[in-house]
Amino acid sequence: METGPDVPDRRIAFYPCCATDIAEPREILAPYADEVVYCDVDPKAGAAVEAERRARHRRLPELRFLEKDAGQALGGLRRVDVLFYRRDSDGEGGSRVYVLGDWYLRRLLALFPERGGLIITDGSNQRGGLFRKMSRTSGLQRYGFSLAPAPEQPLLGIGLTVVRVERQAAAPAYEDGSA
Ligand SMILES: C[S@@+](CC[C@H](N)C(=O)[O-])C[C@H]1O[C@@H](n2cnc3c(N)ncnc32)[C@H](O)[C@@H]1O
Repeated sequence: METGPDVPDRRIAFYPCCATDIAEPREILAPYADEVVYCDVDPKAGAAVEAERRARHRRLPELRFLEKDAGQALGGLRRVDVLFYRRDSDGEGGSRVYVLGDWYLRRLLALFPERGGLIITDGSNQRGGLFRKMSRTSGLQRYGFSLAPAPEQPLLGIGLTVVRVERQAAAPAYEDGSA
């Protein structure tokens, strides 16, 4: 089992390519998640998660670490409520994983709930202008979801945008079966 107990209302945040950026995201995510799943191919990130766990912050979300490729990690997650992602790149030292690109987002959003999902990001490693589109007032409609800026943006001061993710309403079906 990759995530914690299967409690229906337990909210899971996922942070791919986290490096040793552990403690601050845990604080940031406290209002949004019960557990933060960090992921990186580098075991140093796992050591940083363990160090944070030993600090025993009782009121902060639980921690989990996956030493995995960010794409492969998706296969081991049953549910994601919040994507947290920042300060990555496709240059030297960056993961070159396009988390905010079409391939990745399509697979990630398949794990999102119908309502109440969030993406909290600085727009790192976007492709196809997807972050720009989901950050504009009219938002982005893709993969059966509507992505648009949350009404409140408490994290802009540290360069993070909160994007609300909701499944699009199905088109009404007419009596003859057409949509
Ligand atoms: C630029 S650093 C991320 C910085 C981090 N987000 C922060 O805010 O401090 C990129 C990280 O991606 C990790 N990485 C590289 N390829 C990866 C992959 N395929 N899957 C997951 N993590 C990967 C690297 O080990 C490195 O820790």
